[in-house]
Amino acid sequence: MPLLKIARMGHPVLLRRCEPVPDPGAPGIRQLVANMIQTMEDAPGVGLAAPQVHVPLRLFVFRVPGERREKDPDDRPVGPTVLINPELELLSEERVVGWEGCLSIPGMRAGVPRAPRVRYRGMDCDGNVLEREATGFHARVVQHEYDHLDGILYTMRMTDFRLFGFNEELNRVAAAQAVAAEAQAAAAEPQSTIAEARL
Ligand code: NI
Repeated sequence: MPLLKIARMGHPVLLRRCEPVPDPGAPGIRQLVANMIQTMEDAPGVGLAAPQVHVPLRLFVFRVPGERREKDPDDRPVGPTVLINPELELLSEERVVGWEGCLSIPGMRAGVPRAPRVRYRGMDCDGNVLEREATGFHARVVQHEYDHLDGILYTMRMTDFRLFGFNEELNRVAAAQAVAAEAQAAAAEPQSTIAEARL
């Protein structure tokens, strides 16, 4: 199976509202999903939406790796999952800031506010409906990928541009902590949590 080319920020396919998938069981969709999962795992990333591989349809794949559990006890590992024509409901007014990356914005990450709890629903390639409530990192991943289907990148959700940088710089742990602490001190919400993801 081929690895798919990933569109980077600046390509117009990332800014459009995607069309519903007319037939989730079509062989072409099954093949696309298989290639997207392989591309996501190869990157490596934890989520990939169809517009990121130049296909403006409403579907994405994601996973929650096992190691997330150590960082957030709410996060159960989730294997590679596809959601076709998904619906998303935010179950909280609260917003929690966590680190996100995006395969379309390579080498960078940012602190992005997201709802800590969501409900989502979507179909797989066999026509099964998947409906779940998710919290923590799982909820963050789904919100990030769902946004891609509406042409929204994480940069368009950011509220504090000091929490935006190159991974190489932010990976110097002390520097990242200093930036986060400074931003938290300045922000009205001291409850911000820092997670990390490439989506
Ligand atoms: Ni992304």
